[in-house]
Amino acid sequence: MATKNWIGFPHVVESEQFSREVLEEIFALAALMEKGDFEPFKSPKRMISFFYEPSTRTRASFEIAMDLLGGRVVFSTENAKEFSSVAKGESLADTIRVLCRYKPDVIVLRHHEDQGAAEAAGVSTCPIINAGSGKAEHPTQMMGDLCTIQKRLGSIDGLEIGLMGDLKNSRVVRSLAKALCRFPGVKIHFISPPAFGIGEDVKHRLNNHRVPFTETADLQSVSSKVNALYQTRIQTEREDEPEKLEAFLNGDFHITKDVMSSMRKDAIVMHPLPRVKEITTDVDADPRAVYLKEQIDNCLYVRMAQLHMILAS
Ligand code: NCD
Repeated sequence: MATKNWIGFPHVVESEQFSREVLEEIFALAALMEKGDFEPFKSPKRMISFFYEPSTRTRASFEIAMDLLGGRVVFSTENAKEFSSVAKGESLADTIRVLCRYKPDVIVLRHHEDQGAAEAAGVSTCPIINAGSGKAEHPTQMMGDLCTIQKRLGSIDGLEIGLMGDLKNSRVVRSLAKALCRFPGVKIHFISPPAFGIGEDVKHRLNNHRVPFTETADLQSVSSKVNALYQTRIQTEREDEPEKLEAFLNGDFHITKDVMSSMRKDAIVMHPLPRVKEITTDVDADPRAVYLKEQIDNCLYVRMAQLHMILAS
């Protein structure tokens, strides 16, 4: 498969780098990864995974992806703020410069600042993959999410997608909403308390691409319409004004069996995880719930695809 490089290749910083064509190429390569139909790396490839914030799935899936491709994770830290020289006051730029001296082939970075990945890419001598930056972006989660929608529903074009929960603080939703602009006919419903609505910059991008969207605090008004309902966690750790979180108690922002019964028979329910209480556990067994199932698998396959595109060429 011929790799069509994306804007800013080989770094993966933000959703907007990826055209529809490149996204489709990533999904196609992810399908080969799933089937085991790929060539492992022919020469040694070394990954550093450097996470300043907690992670289970993202770090595990990147490290497992590297292993499955025949590469090695040579250095990995799960709490860089505490367990690296960052605790002594080192800047991100200096940390990346130092890590690059050890000649890794790729650095997978999660950082608490919105510009973390961009800043790292600016000084790095090897590819940087953004594994989540502040409240801003989580591009590889977006790829796994879109891949899941495409595989389950056949196409992304023309779908109605509900994006729900703490939209103000969710980097996952921001990356996903921005990427949905690439798919004609998509309509988005943002479902959240008004104080936790999606950012103006995302709305601006949707308007520029003529993507219709609504904003509502009433899940019932859209639950029967959507083809995919994407739930998110309330990001208590990111909220500057925690008292505002009570807004979630005053409305109904949970996905329950009742909500499921109002939804289309062929709709899907997604969540990037970790799930706290925003989807009740009795929904998990519903065949439309994909969050503890293929959504996780697809995030692994797209990460394998990304690493392959960056490192095998
Ligand atoms: C998310 C994240 O870290 O942004 N999780 C993930 O990567 N799958 C969502 C969250 O923390 O709520």
